[in-house]
Amino acid sequence: MNPAMDAPELDYRRQSPGVAARFGRLRQRPVILSVRGLGRVFGGHTAIGDISFEVHRREFLCVLGASGCGKSTLIRLVAGLDTPSSGAILLDGKPVAGPGPDRGMVFQGYTLFPWLTVKKNVMFGLRMCGKSPTEAECEAREWIALVGLSKFENAYPHQLSGGMKQRVAIARALANRPRILLMDEPFGALDAQTRAQMQDYLLEIWRNVDVTILFITHDLDEAVYLSDRILVLGANPGHVLEVIENPVPRPRSRDQFTAPEFLAAYRRISELIHPRGSATAEKIHIPRLTKAGDDVE
Ligand SMILES: Nc1ncnc2c1ncn2[C@@H]1O[C@H](COP(=O)(O)OP(=O)(O)O)[C@@H](O)[C@H]1O
Ligand SMILES: [Mg+2]
Repeated sequence: MNPAMDAPELDYRRQSPGVAARFGRLRQRPVILSVRGLGRVFGGHTAIGDISFEVHRREFLCVLGASGCGKSTLIRLVAGLDTPSSGAILLDGKPVAGPGPDRGMVFQGYTLFPWLTVKKNVMFGLRMCGKSPTEAECEAREWIALVGLSKFENAYPHQLSGGMKQRVAIARALANRPRILLMDEPFGALDAQTRAQMQDYLLEIWRNVDVTILFITHDLDEAVYLSDRILVLGANPGHVLEVIENPVPRPRSRDQFTAPEFLAAYRRISELIHPRGSATAEKIHIPRLTKAGDDVE
């Protein structure tokens, strides 16, 4: 059941003085990422149309949209793994031209090197940046401690659970001190309980580390629980439906899932993604396989 649908109406734009003040401060912070009129066409098919938004320093921006609306296309462009067909992406005011250490990436699939230990995985980028083995090891250990995996620094990825692997991936991404962390449905493959834990870890890490986060999800609860603002995308081609300032105060806790502001934000996103009257699941005909008289209801 979706609790948001039973809650009394509350305007998602109504912000408590604390939340309004926080957004006031956030808007004053420098812009780290600026996406302007971004478009990407794949062989005649426009995956994303004309997307523009900005992310401020230490902001946690969630991008939410239905499957296929262009979220991964967008984040790959920001990562520099793909080239725009139109528009521009600026990081600290400079155009993005290919991947770089100023962007850390954590994707859904586990991207650790299976032949390297946890410590060596985290050291990898540091060594690539020219740090000495001792320096890289020392820093890697700090990041591994931050994600609570000190006991596992000599373990190999296959010895870790899915959640632990993603914690290593986060440590590895942060170790390079990126300006922005790009996360594409990073917890999508985890079971519900691990996913909830990872959300809490990420919020805690983000509180303790000076990093800006662009986080992609199709999970409404996840977006409202984590974000400062939510960029809601529509499909065909991918376009911005609305940018929502999340009215839920920080620090966050899971008790807030039933708070009026949480439900109001949830309801608004839900309306945007599934407008009233839009097609729901297609009716299918299921033949009756029980015998008459087999009363199970
Ligand atoms: N490399 C590609 N070549 C052709 N079409 C692509 C490619 N990448 C994505 N697309 C298309 O772009 C659209 C958006 O895909 P994607 O960004 O993966 O969506 P999402 O991550 O929101 O599920 C889809 O229609 C998809 O088929
Ligand atoms: Mg995707």
